[in-house]
Amino acid sequence: MLKIAPSVLAADFAALGREIADVRRAGADWLHLDVMDGRFVPNISIGIPVVASVRKATDMFLDVHLMIMEPRIYAARFCDAGADMVSFHVEADTAEGITKAVEAVKAKGKMVGLALKPATPAEAVLPWLEQIDMVLVMTVEPGFGGQRFMEDMLPKLRAVRRMAAGRGKDLILETDGGIDERTAPLAAAAGCTMAVAGSAVFGSADRAAAIRALRAPTLSQED
Ligand code: DX5
Ligand code: ZN
Repeated sequence: MLKIAPSVLAADFAALGREIADVRRAGADWLHLDVMDGRFVPNISIGIPVVASVRKATDMFLDVHLMIMEPRIYAARFCDAGADMVSFHVEADTAEGITKAVEAVKAKGKMVGLALKPATPAEAVLPWLEQIDMVLVMTVEPGFGGQRFMEDMLPKLRAVRRMAAGRGKDLILETDGGIDERTAPLAAAAGCTMAVAGSAVFGSADRAAAIRALRAPTLSQED
């Protein structure tokens, strides 16, 4: 069954504790936290102190998505702040920098993911595929919630799934951007196991119904 990670980017930040408790009650699997530095993406969101406060407020699995330049500098600090999964973009650092960031997160005993912007091919994760726990495929240009799902990213999802399967690797495949009732089943059919959903969950008055609707249409028979 498709798992759902609501993105707090679409939450009311002035009531974040209540918003998180609400999606937890509603059955969300993970909580997705979008960190933006105004350089890697043309927007600024939240950072280390907010992750640390959220950590104190909930026992949910914290899925931290870094949209920042040079993630090697900050990856470990997000682990210390309480992230359970830290993912960052292959486009945001040198190959050595990405290796350092992956190692820094592993050294903290946390899960690590690599994220791909729409223009970046699936093969870009290959050098690190053995070490990582997740690949995050952006299905919108990173930076903003509420954008339209790019259906031309579906072949990339399938390619990542194939690469992982070819190596006998049990990889979490996450889709981020434009997930709603119509697009969730497309992503799931392409091999996605974790769907990030901002507006589709936080924009709905009944979050439990919204999460159920995103999960419901899974086409395949996996768990
Ligand atoms: C965009 C973020 C997403 C965003 C998704 O850069 O990475 O996590 O919150 O929002 P929706 O689901 O509204 O497209
Ligand atoms: Zn995200």
